[in-house]
Amino acid sequence: MKAIILSGGKGTRLRPLTYTGAKQLVPVANKPILWYGIESIVEAGITEIGIIISPETGEEVKAKTGNGDRFGANITYILQEKPAGLAHAVKVAQSFLADSPFVMYLGDNLVQSELGLFLEHFHSNHLDALTLLCPVENPSAFGVAEVDEKGRLLRLVEKPKVPPSNLALVGVYIFSSGIHGAIAAIQPSARGELEITDAIQTLIEQQKAVEARQIRGWWLDTGKKDDLLEANRVILDTCCMEPRIQGELDTESKIIGRVQLGVGTKVINSTIRGPVVIGENCHIENCFIGPYTSIADRVRMVDVDLEHSVLLQGATVEGIHHRIVDSLIGQRAQLTEAPKRPKAFRFMVGDDCQIELA
Ligand code: DAU
Repeated sequence: MKAIILSGGKGTRLRPLTYTGAKQLVPVANKPILWYGIESIVEAGITEIGIIISPETGEEVKAKTGNGDRFGANITYILQEKPAGLAHAVKVAQSFLADSPFVMYLGDNLVQSELGLFLEHFHSNHLDALTLLCPVENPSAFGVAEVDEKGRLLRLVEKPKVPPSNLALVGVYIFSSGIHGAIAAIQPSARGELEITDAIQTLIEQQKAVEARQIRGWWLDTGKKDDLLEANRVILDTCCMEPRIQGELDTESKIIGRVQLGVGTKVINSTIRGPVVIGENCHIENCFIGPYTSIADRVRMVDVDLEHSVLLQGATVEGIHHRIVDSLIGQRAQLTEAPKRPKAFRFMVGDDCQIELA
């Protein structure tokens, strides 16, 4: 059994954070989204993993993720020249996959599922395809499935205006090598992509054994700011985050609840109320950091009261005398020094940013 993780494509939905970086590397609880997928695949016993990358962000994905040693896996990088669709990505990976059955995992998905149990079901029932589903409120944003009472998949439609059900396709699929023939038989869709949903529909029409199962855990979309903050909250809440203090804390500082503090981080005269994760080499002084906050490496925070937020590497937040909540602050961004009652604001804000003075 092998696995491929799709980490190519263009990250348009999390702009501006993904203008320069891969959306699959955006961190949730200080860990790239992509790594959750790798860990889940390895936990299910699969160690041969191919990661599909794009020319734009592939090098960054490679440099960050490495050859798989840190996960106990063997990672092969597979270049997809253009984001020509999920089924196209499988085509590109065909020589890596050979005739092995495989898991296909979308690298921007965060799914809590017992992949091992689904693999068992796939093998013991000799299936050609098993898709995972989750009921959602906005099915039109996803691939949508129609299933019968036995869990057999009857029909799949990609982002339908009138959805046949509320069951969205989660970005995790299990296939036998039969999928390659089905992909060879389909044509690009109206949006110009080779759709995996069309390939699965072809298997259904060929009377192959295609089933769908609902996941029991959570499935988190990380496409937009509030989704990402919610994903951060759920991960900090549910993943067994052990308290771990590796940085330095002065005697005026207090830590309450589950907090991780990375090596080289200094906390001075501050209170941190978990769940909070703080990376390495940060400087935190005269701050209150409230629950559901993730702070990446090399962040500087002075005189700040903040909660339910995500700060990326190298950000600086200094002297903001109003509480900061529900915020996503990008790499190396600077929010600095406002007097207690500001008379004016001075901004240098990049394209597509959002600033809300609530
Ligand atoms: O998130 C679940 C949804 O994912 C499913 O419900 C849909 O049926 C499925 O088509 C897919 O829809 P998205 O519009 O969210 O797919 P997106 O273009 O965002 O691509 C998903 C991942 O695959 C993302 O990590 C980028 C990567 N990708 C995408 C394309 C189109 C590639 O590596 N190569 C590609 O050609």
